Amino acid sequence: MYHAEITGWGMCVPPARLTNHDLATFLDTSDEWIVSRSGIRERRVSHVNFSELGLVSARRALAAADVDPADLDLIMLASLTNDSYCPNTASIIQDELGAPRAGALDINTACTGFLYGMHLCRGLIATGQHKKILLIGGEFITHYLNWSQRSSAILFGDACGAVVLEPSEKPVGLLASRIGCEADAKEAIQITNFGSAYERLTDDFLYVKWNFDGREVFKRAVKSMAQACVDVLDEAGVDISEVAVVVPHQANKRILDALAARIGVPEEKVIINVDRYGNTSAGTIPVALVEALEEGRIKPGDYVLSAAFGGGLTWAAGLFRWGDRVTPLKTSDAELPPCDKTALELLAPHIKRYQEYAEREKATEIREQSC
Ligand code: UT7
Repeated sequence: MYHAEITGWGMCVPPARLTNHDLATFLDTSDEWIVSRSGIRERRVSHVNFSELGLVSARRALAAADVDPADLDLIMLASLTNDSYCPNTASIIQDELGAPRAGALDINTACTGFLYGMHLCRGLIATGQHKKILLIGGEFITHYLNWSQRSSAILFGDACGAVVLEPSEKPVGLLASRIGCEADAKEAIQITNFGSAYERLTDDFLYVKWNFDGREVFKRAVKSMAQACVDVLDEAGVDISEVAVVVPHQANKRILDALAARIGVPEEKVIINVDRYGNTSAGTIPVALVEALEEGRIKPGDYVLSAAFGGGLTWAAGLFRWGDRVTPLKTSDAELPPCDKTALELLAPHIKRYQEYAEREKATEIREQSC
């Protein structure tokens, strides 16, 4: 049986920054409220398709591993915001990268996608079925936000990360993992008016709306991630004090603090970047992992604990042991095309569209009430 070692890593965040002050120019919110309730100060807004974020992350990860894309045998991409339903985004990336031997598969478990993907890839490498896998996790989630809903629009941002996985005979990579889903509460995060469950021939179709019960998600996230962390540590026979770094899903700084307190980890061991990127869903963990490596916070042989919670309501946790190498073998010069707009300029037509729609809905509601 082989272990799935992470031999390459790369990330890509689009350049346009949307600050809390920017949000307060069109939503009834404030920097003070957003920072105190979530710890988020700004997030990024993509000016390109999701596959372009994926492609740059992938090229950087492949360079770090010094793996030729032609040698990949699987590309797995975790996201809920793909370029299109058909072809899937992994296929687009397979073609652009020049990886014709690779199977190409998208998975969607929302914020837990990267850890779900790791869980699956670990098995595929362990059995010898695959030898060089590119796993990508990320999101162009600002594309799917309703810009008149302050409860959800302030939380999310765009980003992507990728890793290369290769077999190793040493006990490295993902040592233990758990995945699960609290589907009884799936309505707590719901993106509506888009998908086959929704009536197509109405004015509402494609005006996405978020049903979002932040408090419910908050409580469940802390509880489930903490339990899943305990379970993976137990399975691997590792004590929490031996964990060098925790790389959690970044949804809310208060969730991270509560998780750290529950599992008994000091704050300095927890990687936190939610203040700079917000919640990038399937992108949070690979991006935080890459930043932790670049900042020298992960050392050879370290135990790295990770957990996530999100739409579904899915949850996941994984305990990793890092290999010998914490620096890239090569670097890539892959970059996104330049962006000549501010985040507010990129969003302006969408904000206008959602504001007009919210006004129309309100007017209909008033008319119906007065009838
Ligand atoms: O990765 C999985 C997805 N992530 C999540 O689902 C995040 C989990 N939940 C959270 O992070 C937090 O619950 C939030 C940050 C979303 C909200 O924080 P909260 O402390 O749970 O606030 P709340 O939802 O209980 O709202 C408190 C008040 C409400 O007003 P009233 O009813 O007390 O008058 C809201 O209407 O804050 C109001 N509010 C806002 N005010 C200003 C809600 N959103 C905003 C806003 N700006 N953006």
